[in-house]
Amino acid sequence: MSHSNKPFDLIVVGEINPDLILRGDVVPAFGQVEQLVDDATLTIGSSSAIFACGAARLGLRVAFVGKIGDDVFGRFMHEQLAARGIDTSGIVVDSTIRTGLSVILSRGADRAILTYSGSIAALRYDEIDLRLLDQARHLHLGAYYMLDALRPDVPRLFAEARRRGLTISLDTNYDPTERWESGLAEALAAVDIFLPNETELCAIAGVADTSAALEHLGQRIPIIGAKLGAKGGAARQNGTTVHAGALPIDVVDTTGAGDSFDAGFVYGYLHGWELERTLRLACACGSLSTRAAGGTAAQPALAEAEAVL
Ligand SMILES: Nc1ncnc2c1ncn2[C@@H]1O[C@H](COP(=O)(O)OP(=O)(O)O)[C@@H](O)[C@H]1O
Ligand SMILES: [Mg+2]
Repeated sequence: MSHSNKPFDLIVVGEINPDLILRGDVVPAFGQVEQLVDDATLTIGSSSAIFACGAARLGLRVAFVGKIGDDVFGRFMHEQLAARGIDTSGIVVDSTIRTGLSVILSRGADRAILTYSGSIAALRYDEIDLRLLDQARHLHLGAYYMLDALRPDVPRLFAEARRRGLTISLDTNYDPTERWESGLAEALAAVDIFLPNETELCAIAGVADTSAALEHLGQRIPIIGAKLGAKGGAARQNGTTVHAGALPIDVVDTTGAGDSFDAGFVYGYLHGWELERTLRLACACGSLSTRAAGGTAAQPALAEAEAVL
């Protein structure tokens, strides 16, 4: 890989919080009813952290920038990232806030998610150690629409990254306000790779048809890697769209599949792979990640993902 004199391939900026997954008879009954569930697991949550773990699993050298409270959920996330060899020196601990949490009520194929935003929305531009940018080749920002305090400064962050020669990828994830703007056009103008799912792609393009949405956004974004769920993915670069299928798989849990796809896509990009191979790796990483509960437990190492290409 070129530029390997830099200590990191990738800086991830975004949200960092655990998921508490409850399985079984999870529909709550109020009136102080105590109800037993089959299983409870605290696991790595949040799009950006799951992406960082997926990239590290593939062998990329990753540093993470995000914000946690001085509490057990924050310490859990910090430990989990560090255990995967991810540099955590850019993680800010703020004792005035509490780490965010998602409680996932999982019932067969369906689930309900209760999220306490907490530290998720609180990361500010002035808390990002810009010196980390000098140490990496690429910047990935996840969960744009969750990062309330940072969002107005995302164009500034991207400009700093570009000035230092980094390439940039962005996965906005879903916009809870469903306005699909909030300065996004300016942020998108600076990215090299945009990584939406099908819903996000069409909403942001303002076009209902997926291939038309790809064509439309492809006029102003160099590379788009679009996630199409069980259909796999599509990617567009230089006026050409390529497709790749998902793997036929016994899906256990699709949490984080899109973030694992992103990790594969960025891996291929940073290694100079051609678009179609990059997309196939991304789809393999997304599909393989659905084999186990939670976002990170089944993320593949490179050899395992390449074996199914
Ligand atoms: N049911 C499924 N079967 C196989 N692969 C899947 C399935 N759902 C998702 N994937 C894989 O994960 C990738 C991302 O999933 P998707 O649900 O589209 O993204 P997001 O999680 O961002 O909404 C897909 O491109 C595909 O490769
Ligand atoms: Mg997603």
